[in-house]
Amino acid sequence: MSRRSHSASPGLRDAKRPKLDHLTPDDYKNGIMLAPMVRSGALPTRLFALKHGAKLVWGPEIVDKAILHAERVIDPNTGVISYNGKSKAMFTTHPIEKPYLVYQIGSSDPELAVQAAKTVMQDVSGIDLNCGCPKPFSTHAGMGAALLSTPDLLCSILTALRTELPAHISVSAKIRLLPTQEETLKLVKRIVNTGVNCLTVHCRTRNMRQRERAIIERLKEVVDFVKGMGRDVAVIQNGDCVGYDDARRIRALTGADSVMIATAAESNPTVFSPIPLVDLESTLVPPYVRLCKYLDNHWASTKFCIAQFKGSHVNITKANGKTLRDALVKSKGYADLDATIGSWNGEEEYAEIVKAIEARAQNSPILLPAETEPRADVDNVTPSPSGETASQDPSAFITPPEWRGNPEPAVVHGAPLAPSNEKRTAVPASVSGRDETTPTPLPVPKSGAEVSLYAM
Ligand SMILES: Cc1cc2nc3c(=O)[nH]c(=O)nc-3n(C[C@H](O)[C@H](O)[C@H](O)COP(=O)(O)O)c2cc1C
Repeated sequence: MSRRSHSASPGLRDAKRPKLDHLTPDDYKNGIMLAPMVRSGALPTRLFALKHGAKLVWGPEIVDKAILHAERVIDPNTGVISYNGKSKAMFTTHPIEKPYLVYQIGSSDPELAVQAAKTVMQDVSGIDLNCGCPKPFSTHAGMGAALLSTPDLLCSILTALRTELPAHISVSAKIRLLPTQEETLKLVKRIVNTGVNCLTVHCRTRNMRQRERAIIERLKEVVDFVKGMGRDVAVIQNGDCVGYDDARRIRALTGADSVMIATAAESNPTVFSPIPLVDLESTLVPPYVRLCKYLDNHWASTKFCIAQFKGSHVNITKANGKTLRDALVKSKGYADLDATIGSWNGEEEYAEIVKAIEARAQNSPILLPAETEPRADVDNVTPSPSGETASQDPSAFITPPEWRGNPEPAVVHGAPLAPSNEKRTAVPASVSGRDETTPTPLPVPKSGAEVSLYAM
């Protein structure tokens, strides 16, 4: 296998751009974020989310102990970094996402949380503590939503993280609403005082099911309260946001700095864009599979994520979509999809992602294109605390697209999937911080699903 060339986009290498080596409070603001999602928030999904407008991406929750003894291995061909356990990868990432990647920890122990954070901090920009998982296997160990009932422990973990980690690693927490507003504000005050950079509030209580409507209207008071504390802590709304317009509506309603999307992004990782992809079987699935193959993403993970994709059909019939889905369900590996996915080499998808992410870094913050008119359905939104409304401020939300249409190449039926990974492009120097890839002469075991309580 030949070595990679030194840059995927030499044209951009010399360009002046801000050095994105750590997250500032502003990075948590004015954006739509990809939520932490076990299994569904896999590396390729995070990369597509970034390409299509997610400002930051959260990795899936990984329990502190799970990562501690992992072996960090870099694939010299792809740049993919795997934290490998005995039988499978606990976590995989890629240097291209590092400036935008928040790693989420499941923990009920300050020391273990710090150790886990230090294990991965060279590959991430922020560390988030999961204080919202309501599942019994998480809460019985005192993690996730159980921390909402043990505020001393919750805050001691955050304090330990903030004290022990270098300043360039941001620290954040993701909580749920408590049953009363008074209890919520009391907890929020304590969390903010630990020195976190950001607080995400899933607008459901611990006992609420996912199918119950998020109580978004409770957030405004929380946001105002945090702003009133005078600390530069971003508040991110989470719960029931379905896309770009909805994020604008929610932000106007709540005054939140940003909005985070989980389920809708699991169904369509391009929902961050004002014009998300439709006809996913032909627009998203082929490039997604090719990128996964290029990155050597574990097939089971690829198949699982694709199985979650759902979207509207405009130009392709449901029958054609079903043909691709049936092929996917039957297939046992990438080679089985050659006839369906087409002849592009995954390198093209990777280069596209690199280009899109580099363009963001170069133009940051990327504003809504000037020609975009406020949507009619956001014209009558409730004013935010500042008095501004989404429709009055169409540039309030960052969004990636320079393009306005579907950026993915259409599927070519009957063409074989390019078999070669020979000419892979290098991790760009702009994000790797060095002018060459980091070859590690160790074999990379096939990675499995990332480990977390959500996966159980
Ligand atoms: C498949 C899946 C996996 C999830 N995994 C995590 C996780 O690892 N950590 C976490 O804090 N929340 C996790 N969540 C919760 C989401 O991050 C989010 O808080 C919740 O789904 C509400 O957002 P939504 O209404 O946009 O779906 C998960 C949700 C889903 C659907």
